[in-house]
Amino acid sequence: PQITVVNHAGDETVVDATEGHNVMEVIREGGFDELLALCGGCCSCATCHVYVDADTFAKLPAMSEDENDLLDSSDHRTELSRLSCQVKVTGDIAGARFTIAPED
Ligand code: FES
Repeated sequence: PQITVVNHAGDETVVDATEGHNVMEVIREGGFDELLALCGGCCSCATCHVYVDADTFAKLPAMSEDENDLLDSSDHRTELSRLSCQVKVTGDIAGARFTIAPED
């Protein structure tokens, strides 16, 4: 599936997402260094924070307690926040839009 990534400047880029990868990997592989992803995807850093478009957000599997707690530590959490390393690429997210959240 293809997804759209929006960087800090508001520029939109469409990237190919490989099923089975997570969205953090897709964004990093797409060359976006604004997404720090310091822990490498083990749900312990919260530097892979993104905002998801509302339609896609509603379709995603529920977040774990760990993800929820980590997001609470961010000053920039919104009701559309997710940690991108915890979002798996499936056909369901085709056309989704992920906006890289500001750094805390
Ligand atoms: Fe660290 Fe996602 S990369 S929580």
